[in-house]
Amino acid sequence: VNIPASSLNPVPASPVRPAPPLRELSVGLVGPGQVGRALLDQLLAARAPLQRELRLDLRVRIVADSRRMWLDHENPSLAPDAPGTRTWYPSDLDQFGARLGALPGPVVIDCSASESVAERYASWLRAGLHVVTPNKLAISGPLERWHAIGKARDSGALLRYEATVGAGLPVVQTLRDLIATGDTLCSVEGLFSGTLAWLFDGYDGRQPFSQRVRQAREMGYTEPDPRADLDGVDVARKLVILAREAGMDLSLEDVHVQSLVPPELRELDLDACMQRLQDLDEPLARRHAAAAARGSVLRHVGRLHADGRAQVALEELPADHPLAQGRLSDNIVQFRTRRYADNPLRVQGPGAGPEVTAAGVFADLLRVAAEVRA
Ligand SMILES: NC(=O)c1ccc[n+]([C@@H]2O[C@H](COP(=O)([O-])OP(=O)(O)OC[C@H]3O[C@@H](n4cnc5c(N)ncnc54)[C@H](OP(=O)(O)O)[C@@H]3O)[C@@H](O)[C@H]2O)c1
Repeated sequence: VNIPASSLNPVPASPVRPAPPLRELSVGLVGPGQVGRALLDQLLAARAPLQRELRLDLRVRIVADSRRMWLDHENPSLAPDAPGTRTWYPSDLDQFGARLGALPGPVVIDCSASESVAERYASWLRAGLHVVTPNKLAISGPLERWHAIGKARDSGALLRYEATVGAGLPVVQTLRDLIATGDTLCSVEGLFSGTLAWLFDGYDGRQPFSQRVRQAREMGYTEPDPRADLDGVDVARKLVILAREAGMDLSLEDVHVQSLVPPELRELDLDACMQRLQDLDEPLARRHAAAAARGSVLRHVGRLHADGRAQVALEELPADHPLAQGRLSDNIVQFRTRRYADNPLRVQGPGAGPEVTAAGVFADLLRVAAEVRA
């Protein structure tokens, strides 16, 4: 049927809707170190697209390190070492919180590794400031403080800490989603330390283990004192964080940790310890040879069971075990739940590094923005 175009009704022009107003979140960053600076760069790069596409204005208003703090209206780039950064104040976290709390949508981002900053979470949350952090200390710290933080969240302020476990990998959020949708956790197990994953992934027993540790230290893969990686406490903290996320009252002391640091190296100062690092070699070479003779490999594994048992240890695993399939410094985290009983849900990928960690923090910040709006 031929219908003449002239007989069609003209489509009414749709009215131009004004853009919704910008919503502002005021960010205060504590700790412009490796992760903090990467985050500042990411926030700056994303500011215009977020304004355009989400109508969200993420404004970094204050930055504080352990000695100084900078305010945005005097120093818009807020990068502590940017040219022209002249105006600063002595660092004072009381003033930091008070200033930020007076601004719209205040969010503290703690990128320090400081106990004294972790001590502030409860008061910030009580005052209505949201807190986002990759710092494990408050989330895995003393139970009494953890409960005080939980109570402080009654104010409606949010606490997010995805990057404390697996840096940019979605580990905490995955567990939160499983539980929120009615699943039941049976166990979590995995390789939670990128440093230890790297050390054992390439360890073939020919190169002394101490040499691998020195190499990792030179490449910046370990903490300045490698005992902080080898003692397993950092992995234990991650298990405590996941346990608490799952509703368990677990403390660091409840985790059975098998340290790789021989007792005779524990009390030495760093230089003396580095001189005697070869004390690690013989026992690990023996364990490696025994495992290899059985077609197995050594991996540093953290395990958490639903009944609250938690352990961190060097384990012998069959070479085809899923936890033996990581690459280099991959973290691998397996959740067994009622729904994922036979075939566990697995999250795997690089679990450290300033950029991916900052991205994990940034994703948390966007979740806070979405929840605040909802
Ligand atoms: N790097 C990673 O790959 C990674 C991965 C996952 C999680 N994390 C966590 O992310 C956090 C930051 O790591 P990072 O590697 O960026 O550490 P970093 O480079 O050592 O930076 C730490 C920052 O915190 C500041 N700071 C320390 N004490 C402070 C205090 N009392 N008040 C205010 N600021 C303070 C430091 O300032 P000063 O210079 O003044 O001391 C520095 O700016 C840590 O909790 C770490 O465990 C890091």
